[in-house]
Amino acid sequence: MNFQKICVLGLGYIGLPTASIFARQGLKVVGVDTNPYVIETLRKGEIHIHEPGLRAVVESALSSGNLSVSFQPEEADAFLIAVPTPFYHDRHGEYEGRTYRLADMRAVTSATEAILPHLRQGNLVILESTSPPRTTVDLVRPILERSGLKAGVDFYLCYSPERVLPGQILRELVENARVVGGITPESAEAGCALYATFVKGEIIATDATTAEMVKLMENTTRDVNIAIANEFARLAEKSGVDVWEAISLANRHPRIHILNPGPGVGGHCISVDPWFFVETAPELTPLIYHARQVNDEQPHFVVEKVRQALGSLKDKKIAALGLAYKPDVDDLRESPAVEVVHLLQQEGAQVQAWEPFKPEANLQGINMATNLASAIQDADALVLLVKHTEFCDMNPVEIKTKTAARIVVDCVNGWDHDAWKDAGFRVFCLGVYQ
Ligand SMILES: NC(=O)c1ccc[n+]([C@@H]2O[C@H](COP(=O)([O-])OP(=O)(O)OC[C@H]3O[C@@H](n4cnc5c(N)ncnc54)[C@H](O)[C@@H]3O)[C@@H](O)[C@H]2O)c1
Repeated sequence: MNFQKICVLGLGYIGLPTASIFARQGLKVVGVDTNPYVIETLRKGEIHIHEPGLRAVVESALSSGNLSVSFQPEEADAFLIAVPTPFYHDRHGEYEGRTYRLADMRAVTSATEAILPHLRQGNLVILESTSPPRTTVDLVRPILERSGLKAGVDFYLCYSPERVLPGQILRELVENARVVGGITPESAEAGCALYATFVKGEIIATDATTAEMVKLMENTTRDVNIAIANEFARLAEKSGVDVWEAISLANRHPRIHILNPGPGVGGHCISVDPWFFVETAPELTPLIYHARQVNDEQPHFVVEKVRQALGSLKDKKIAALGLAYKPDVDDLRESPAVEVVHLLQQEGAQVQAWEPFKPEANLQGINMATNLASAIQDADALVLLVKHTEFCDMNPVEIKTKTAARIVVDCVNGWDHDAWKDAGFRVFCLGVYQ
């Protein structure tokens, strides 16, 4: 197939890098987004998300004229859908007393509907949004077939999961292996041909529903493995053990790889995607359900740790270091660090949060410090919630001159505890008995 022009719907963490890389390869790309802020920012030649290296790629894609942005799709050879697939916050499913989250597929539905008037014979449509099994065949396909064209006969239809690591998106988009699931083998072949324009990793063809399952299985496995690490942290504290040491020793076994415990699981993927399996078959997924429960409860264990460190939380001044859901990214979605701050405040603590990757974040009910110095100055305790490199590099001797705090609570094992103790701090660590 010869692809000259593509439309990418959704210009977020996935869609914008993808659109820009296609443009860099010489394709004409129309990037579509429904958010006026996104379109206006890009039209000014700026970007609205933090991702290393992305600014330069977007700038060059825009200035070459290969990338343009719009509120509406237009006729193209291929359409890629990379819109959000969160869960509903106000609707739940119930199964035998278990309450589970429901996938909010409205953005996928409306993006697919927006393609409809522009769909032509021979086009390729690829869904990249992480989706419950059978979304491509049961949701996207019937919408597109309202055009009168038949999927797999008149146009190609695929699902291809995105597996990039935020912070490494540009490199991983190109180098990672890519799974392309077609609703027919010919669709998969067309999808593989499109990605071959820039993907250097292996491109593997399968069917659409298998490709959907692949993505959900990957993230669910991580969620379950983090849940067991979090339970190990709780057990270690009860048994007088340092979980970080225990994990590093267990991982010396050649076939064991225990993940790290922490304040919980967040982001738009791992804390969301396992629910898509639970929704598909709650009667078959008790393990996946309980792992989600364990990880969602973890912020409460962090609060207990801080309470242990400070005696009481009432009116205590706490500097919360980091709000992102993982290190060195600006993504705060579903972040357990944000939940920890809310819970500390509910217990009467006065929290100043400092997020170096998103200092301008405007989160309801959270006091954002304007810089590290103001966050820590009058604090009673510093609580490390995200393993950002710049936090790990903090020099405790220097910090001691800038803060009233003499207590630190490390929830991610990001600090050299002996160095902090030597500098005169009392150190508490999640997963370590004190
Ligand atoms: N961010 C990641 O690291 C990552 C990794 C793998 C998979 N995914 C999946 O990729 C999908 C997109 O994620 P993201 O992180 O890029 O989301 P995002 O929120 O960063 O970006 C999505 C964009 O889509 C736009 N949008 C919403 N509805 C639209 C519509 N109807 N038409 C056009 N644009 C619309 C939004 O305004 C937003 O700018 C999700 O399903 C996510 O689970 C994300």
